[in-house]
Amino acid sequence: MSEKNLTERDLACVWHPCTQMKDHESLPLIEVTRGEGVWLHDTQGKKYLDAVSSWWVNIFGHSHPYIADALSEQAHTLEHVIFAGHTHEPAVRLAERLLALAPAGFGKVFFADNGSAAVEVALKMSFHYWHNKGETRTRFINLSNAYHGETLGALSVGDVALYKETYAPLLLESIVVKGPDNYEREAGETPVEHARRRLQDMRQALEAHADDVCAVIIEPLIQCAGNMRMHDPEYLRGLRALCDEFNVHLIADEIAVGFGRTGSMFACEQADIRPDFMCLSKGLTAGWLPLAVVLTTDDVYDAFYDEYQTLRAFLHSHSYTGNPLACAVANATLDLFEQYDTIRANQKLVERMAQAAAPLAEHPHVADVRQTGMVVAIEMVKNKQTREPYDWKERRGLHVYRHGLEHGALLRPLGNVVYWMPPYVITEEQIDWIAQLSREGIDLATRN
Ligand SMILES: Cc1ncc(COP(=O)(O)O)c(C=O)c1O
Repeated sequence: MSEKNLTERDLACVWHPCTQMKDHESLPLIEVTRGEGVWLHDTQGKKYLDAVSSWWVNIFGHSHPYIADALSEQAHTLEHVIFAGHTHEPAVRLAERLLALAPAGFGKVFFADNGSAAVEVALKMSFHYWHNKGETRTRFINLSNAYHGETLGALSVGDVALYKETYAPLLLESIVVKGPDNYEREAGETPVEHARRRLQDMRQALEAHADDVCAVIIEPLIQCAGNMRMHDPEYLRGLRALCDEFNVHLIADEIAVGFGRTGSMFACEQADIRPDFMCLSKGLTAGWLPLAVVLTTDDVYDAFYDEYQTLRAFLHSHSYTGNPLACAVANATLDLFEQYDTIRANQKLVERMAQAAAPLAEHPHVADVRQTGMVVAIEMVKNKQTREPYDWKERRGLHVYRHGLEHGALLRPLGNVVYWMPPYVITEEQIDWIAQLSREGIDLATRN
């Protein structure tokens, strides 16, 4: 009997995320053996430049030796401990550092273990806050095209039909307000004008529902899973002001955009605002281990602080809350930001990405090339003049994906949007190369 290869063994027993498994009848799995810097290596001796930072997490590339050492040291010291009634230095140090780095005014850090869980925490905490204040508020406001994760609460405040539609009967009914997506600007409208116009929609929603609304949730500056749509910081400033005016919480989901992705450590900095809750994950551990945190204010914390019998406490928990290995890795990640002066060093890469992407705007089937910091997105359309999109069922992006893999780059488009979200250790030459492969892939994808 011939021995099965890894793919055969995989397909016999593994169910992969975000995948129609039938695709693998024709689309080969990449059998990854190791990672190093921007590169992933496979069993066939091929290597791939990870231009999407493996779902936006590996901000310092793969297998960074400094993080490996920190993880190893922690593994030999304390791998895990129940985080109720116990504490440990890596978690405390991480909380202190995050509070020092984040916009001023946060007071406490609550730990979770993935992005969706962090969103659940923020939603529940906001609801419970109002409950503890003697108010029964049951609604949340989210933006059109939002994405906040896959668990039921997080899906409820999402608006990407592909992920949400099937589960709609199970979900909370959120209030969806038209977002400030720059791609939807009217002719001649500036991003700031557009943001202000869309703030009027938010005002109307709050005027109608504020008494019943716990919080507004937003992905600051970039709706990543929603096809990398971007907006002006003006919207965040205006939204903060509206949330204050109508006395509802503001939840900033910085799970994808936090840790330097937008050009600043946190996206909210660009609008000079502090939300009431800030959710962080992904880049927090640079792709090494699952970890998430929710930063909140002392005002929120104080509303829960009482005798046990009052049932005001936040009894939410996950078994791996505050895992020491993940916290040690997160601390090492923050060390790297300091050692490399990452936010400043990235400015050069941001410029190079802009230069490399600019010619793509001329492509006859590209309607928009947009960029915020270390994210570039290229939107392919059927008709450049009218911006008529390609039918998503045609799966044009797959051509780009296949072309990238063939030539050694992991470019995994979102529908008709090709994007670059590379590790911060990418070189300027590698950026040019990704641009070239994207161009070729887009040519192939839009040929007929
Ligand atoms: C903005 C945002 N929020 C939440 C999530 C969910 O995070 P996780 O995949 O870790 O559950 C994601 C994941 O892509 C995200 O982009």
